[in-house]
Amino acid sequence: NKVVLAYSGGLDTSVIAKWLQTEYDCEVVTFTADIGQGEEVAPARTKAEALGIKEIYIDDLQAEFARDFIYPMFRANAIYEGEYLLGTSIARPLIARRLVEIANETGADAISHGATGKGNDQIRFELGAYALKPGVQVIAPWREWDLNSREKLLAYCDEHNILVEKKKGKSPYSMDANLLHISYEGGILEDPWAEPEEEMWRWTVSPENAPDTAESITLTYKEGDIVAIDGKALEPHKVVAELNRIGGQHGVGRLDIVENRYIGMKSRGCYETPGGTIMMRAHRAIESITLDKEVAHLKDSIMPKYAEMIYNGYWWSPERVALQKLIDETQKHVNGEVRVKLYKGNVTVTGRRSETDSLFDDRIATFEDDGGIYNQYDAEGFIKLNALRLRIAADKGRSNQ
Ligand code: ARG
Ligand code: SIN
Repeated sequence: NKVVLAYSGGLDTSVIAKWLQTEYDCEVVTFTADIGQGEEVAPARTKAEALGIKEIYIDDLQAEFARDFIYPMFRANAIYEGEYLLGTSIARPLIARRLVEIANETGADAISHGATGKGNDQIRFELGAYALKPGVQVIAPWREWDLNSREKLLAYCDEHNILVEKKKGKSPYSMDANLLHISYEGGILEDPWAEPEEEMWRWTVSPENAPDTAESITLTYKEGDIVAIDGKALEPHKVVAELNRIGGQHGVGRLDIVENRYIGMKSRGCYETPGGTIMMRAHRAIESITLDKEVAHLKDSIMPKYAEMIYNGYWWSPERVALQKLIDETQKHVNGEVRVKLYKGNVTVTGRRSETDSLFDDRIATFEDDGGIYNQYDAEGFIKLNALRLRIAADKGRSNQ
């Protein structure tokens, strides 16, 4: 039998590759993806070869990740528990699908990953894999073995002649990075009161050290998606990368939260999502002039559900697909431009316009003479009928308080 392993080339997954060969006596296929984590994926080949792996997959999935996962999610303005932009959550279904595709191509009947038995990622990988390949077998070494510390993993490497670079300056955090964000968990962060040290943050300058001059950029939207920055057309993954760069320079997108994992425990995490933070603000701004009020409110009411589906690992589910259809349908008219100003950690919308789809009518909204197109007298009946049930209740002696 054969197993496809999501392989980063790091310590944990290198041990897993060897462990699967020895404990399960199976052939291991490794899969390493470039999803914009900012680290070379090419070295994964030599590392896998050194572990005796014969089938090695290395894919650049950045374009697909941005186009088919990040962009659809941002059409919904998805935020988990009011704060988290779902940077790790949204990458997992893509990896799950690729694991399954490779399993089908290589005739493997199992998949494996390096997520622990305590977290969300195991759920996301496995729900995705089962949804796309119902009979698949899952091997999650962290739930089985007793190599539960860095020392034990290193001892295992010594024992099995696995070469690992003992990186100096190895981060004390559990990190996960992709095109959308970088996350930090564990280490001193396990005390929710402990302030993260400045050295932890890798993608953004601190707002205190950000430039004293603000920077304005204009984003062009087509059907809810950013298609250009300052008039320059860019593909989705280029847009996200560029917004990360500009946002990072201005200290945009740092977040420090305690969140509820699907498993049930609370967990403290720090995240940097500079591009995503800009995208969120700007998307709301373009929707503010192009979406019908009730459609916008309906979107807002389903958003927490949609975000929860992504957080909990149900990207590949009928309920997420159904909501996505609704969300995508609402984006037909979300066309136009938004100008945002970046300054010391802040993203401020300073303008929005849409030549083709704006519902904003200055003739109606004006505080000046509107030439009679809006009859203020109509408001009296509107308010009176809305007050009807309140008046009836008060008449019957209810206090309404
Ligand atoms: N808590 C975040 C989430 O569940 C980030 C998880 C980070 N994963 C990791 N393997 N370090 O989406
Ligand atoms: C892990 O447990 O592997 C990382 C954290 C998470 O999945 O929530």
